[in-house]
Amino acid sequence: MEFEKLIAERRSVRAYKNEPVAHELLVKILKEAQAAPSWKNLQASRCYVVEGEKLEEFRALSLPSFNQNSSRGAALIVTTFVRDIVAFTNGTADTELGNKWGAYDLGLHDAYLVLAAKNAGLDTLIMGIRNPEAIREALEIPENEDIMSVIAVGYRDQEPGMRPRKELGEVVRFF
Ligand SMILES: Cc1cc2nc3c(=O)[nH]c(=O)nc-3n(C[C@H](O)[C@H](O)[C@H](O)COP(=O)(O)O)c2cc1C
Repeated sequence: MEFEKLIAERRSVRAYKNEPVAHELLVKILKEAQAAPSWKNLQASRCYVVEGEKLEEFRALSLPSFNQNSSRGAALIVTTFVRDIVAFTNGTADTELGNKWGAYDLGLHDAYLVLAAKNAGLDTLIMGIRNPEAIREALEIPENEDIMSVIAVGYRDQEPGMRPRKELGEVVRFF
């Protein structure tokens, strides 16, 4: 899909068809997300994909009811990053931002992921309101990873409009 169209048409979608996403398609978008830049190419972002029969039980334990309802029918990708690696040298942070750089890299990764999904004919919902303890236990996520988002990936069953954006002048200053 043309890039302008891709970014214009991506939305947070909160209603999905009960139509499974093919495993191969998930692999394709996960590979494309790996093309995202990362600090020193450390690639500390991690994904845990829940699909098929395991989905409904996992959805119920991992998300509050409003996000369960918004994501029903979609596969779920939990994204994490390995702590104390990105912008760390011998266990010491290279900058005042510490592990925020790991979160920064993961955000870039996830931005690529949602655009790759859109390009593959899928829609997404990034969910930051989730139950990290239950997710860690269910997916056996190591303690040295910070759990950030759960991303729903599926086939849209609604046509949400573009949510308003601030005027550029409110958020950008040119010098
Ligand atoms: C880090 C992050 C966390 C979010 N968490 C949630 C969430 O828990 N539930 C939800 O419905 N939407 C969530 N959203 C979606 C935002 O509300 C949405 O991106 C924003 O309103 C702009 O709409 P758009 O994505 O359609 O452009 C989240 C988005 C981001 C980037």
